[in-house]
Amino acid sequence: MSDSSTNNLDGKVAIVTGAGRGLGREEAMQLASQGARVVINDINLPDAAKAANETVEEIKAAGGEAMVVFGDCADTNDANNLMKATLDAYGDLNIMVNNAGYCRDKTIFGMSDEEFDSVVRVHLRGHFVNMRNAASYWRGKAKAGEQVYARLISTSSEAAIFGSVGQPNYSAAKSGIVAMTMGTAQLLIRYGIPCNVIMPRAETDMTMQGPTAAMFAAPEEGFHAFDPSNVAPLVGYLCSPDAAHIAGEVFVVWGNQVNRLKRPEFGEAHVNPEGAKKWTLDGLHSSLASEFGEGYTPVLDGFSVPPQ
Ligand SMILES: NC(=O)c1ccc[n+]([C@@H]2O[C@H](COP(=O)([O-])OP(=O)(O)OC[C@H]3O[C@@H](n4cnc5c(N)ncnc54)[C@H](O)[C@@H]3O)[C@@H](O)[C@H]2O)c1
Repeated sequence: MSDSSTNNLDGKVAIVTGAGRGLGREEAMQLASQGARVVINDINLPDAAKAANETVEEIKAAGGEAMVVFGDCADTNDANNLMKATLDAYGDLNIMVNNAGYCRDKTIFGMSDEEFDSVVRVHLRGHFVNMRNAASYWRGKAKAGEQVYARLISTSSEAAIFGSVGQPNYSAAKSGIVAMTMGTAQLLIRYGIPCNVIMPRAETDMTMQGPTAAMFAAPEEGFHAFDPSNVAPLVGYLCSPDAAHIAGEVFVVWGNQVNRLKRPEFGEAHVNPEGAKKWTLDGLHSSLASEFGEGYTPVLDGFSVPPQ
């Protein structure tokens, strides 16, 4: 097995959306440290643009290659421009890391249509348009008989599976990202292209504004489990040649932990004891009592139990 920390992505081309700050920045720097040429996408607003330029400078200072392409990750024209600028500058695309997004947190009681739509748009549509561009490009190459080295990484959240009371918009978008990536993974594996999802935890601008701030803050001393740089190695690994066989997986990742999510499974099948006919409500009540009778309590944990 090769050392996956250096040079195993030499000559490869990666796009990371939302790579000016937070997790995207760390992932871009990780891919660059492995030898990839990295296209830093972020929104062209003063703070984000400054951060994106700084990410590029930092990669270059470390001897890597990178450039900025500004644009809204969820805008079709901007996504098309991102793809075109990447191909114009670097001649190929090998790695698409969809990462960009923001939160507008409210409970279901107070969330406006605009708050719902904009968050679903930036995350879910933001993944969709760039995923479509990358997938179509790679399929085109494969159909033309060319060798394709490609990796697709999506960024979801544990909110997608456990829910999040203050984020009906965000958790819905993040669930959609898992479903969309799983379907795309099934399709792209035909071309030898692995697609995977990460669910990170990190101290970033996004999490330090919300209810997770205290949980993710740096400890006064010792290892900072929620430093966003701790998430980047998994992305680097999944994009590396050593991980070519890993596809359709969802990883929860932070600190020194990587957790592969188990696939959801069907539980006990309740079959109508009256035979092949439609259930009555009484029939359902008595059959389901084996699971939902006395002693049953709903599982409504807002967050996952950290693995040991
Ligand atoms: N930090 C965590 O604990 C955590 C947990 C689960 C999931 N995530 C996900 O990780 C990803 C990165 O989040 P982060 O924590 O680094 O947040 P962050 O706010 O630090 O970074 C997000 C980046 O996306 C950019 N961005 C926002 N809107 C954009 C747009 N329309 N087009 C292009 N870029 C845009 C921002 O400018 C910023 O640079 C997000 O998808 C987030 O939902 C983060």
